[in-house]
Amino acid sequence: MPKVIILGQEEIEVEAGANLLRVIQQHGYDRNLPATCDGRCTCGTCAVRVLKGGDEVKPCEKDLLKDQIEKKWRLSCQVLVEQDIEVEVPGYEVAEALEIEPGLLADILDFAADRLVFHGNPLPSGVGLKRLKDLRRRVDEIVAGEADPADYRLVRQILLELLERDLVKEIPSKHPFTERTVEMMIQAFEKRIPKAIEEREEVLTYPYFLYVAFAILFFLLGGLSIYALFVDAPLEQTATPTFTPNPEKAPWYFLGIQELLAISPNLGGFLNSIAIGGVILPGLVVLFWLAIPYIEPYLEALGPRGRRGLPPGRRLSERPVTVALFTLSVLLFVALVVIGTYFRGPNWEFVLPWR
Ligand code: FES
Repeated sequence: MPKVIILGQEEIEVEAGANLLRVIQQHGYDRNLPATCDGRCTCGTCAVRVLKGGDEVKPCEKDLLKDQIEKKWRLSCQVLVEQDIEVEVPGYEVAEALEIEPGLLADILDFAADRLVFHGNPLPSGVGLKRLKDLRRRVDEIVAGEADPADYRLVRQILLELLERDLVKEIPSKHPFTERTVEMMIQAFEKRIPKAIEEREEVLTYPYFLYVAFAILFFLLGGLSIYALFVDAPLEQTATPTFTPNPEKAPWYFLGIQELLAISPNLGGFLNSIAIGGVILPGLVVLFWLAIPYIEPYLEALGPRGRRGLPPGRRLSERPVTVALFTLSVLLFVALVVIGTYFRGPNWEFVLPWR
């Protein structure tokens, strides 16, 4: 006797020639198959996906299902079970077999954008319209497993919040789906995410990245060599041990530290030490820069994404705490160099350069 295998559910032995819709109805898997024409092949509401087995597609199925036939959709009322058959029934989808419909994902993203624009109630909270539109434009790429991990995380978050906020029923879409479909989409995306990451992580930086790095290096060297032909270096007179210029300034890239050295003895308290300005403070800043890749998740846990339980993203706007701290530390360094270069005169006194 042939078997009807309802994927993710059960295997049912049936008489050869049994009608698939009747089997599904008798076993109670028809809650999303109203089958309103009761097998006359006019309503199209008994569609299931037949992934293996199944007889000839009937002309009326082609009329009603059109290009859905290519995605293995059949009208179950027209399928006679002659041999083993694997079926995915709407509402009982399994992630392994789920064919995510790009149009459905597009409708979901439109719905999320709608909530943001008309209800001021973003989905998930904190996501911007620009980002949603960007995802919407790339639904095919996302469904094909070719998007970035950050995109998958965001799509998964949107789907999860749809379920949590009980909004699935409100999504307007011509594509058939249920809450179960959305759950399966989450699982299917989860299965595709590691694949997408692995595929991307296997791309070697050599030679692709090195080409770029060397091209930049050669252009920079060439540019500087040509510049050096026309502009003399700002060298001063030969140094003599008997004469120390006042002020004695370090090369520009050390002027920040020289400035710190000059400031720190005036700070008072435990900061009142040359070691603080000359070694400890610059050392801590450099340590912070080195540690960023390791501490970023902890830093971003304090930011808006972290408070929603999301990991740091790749874009600047998705890692605001780290970007702000790094920019602040660089700006501080640049400010010290500028002060040391232009605002320090004889005896390291503060001077105004335009006086
Ligand atoms: S029950 Fe209407 S088309 Fe199958």
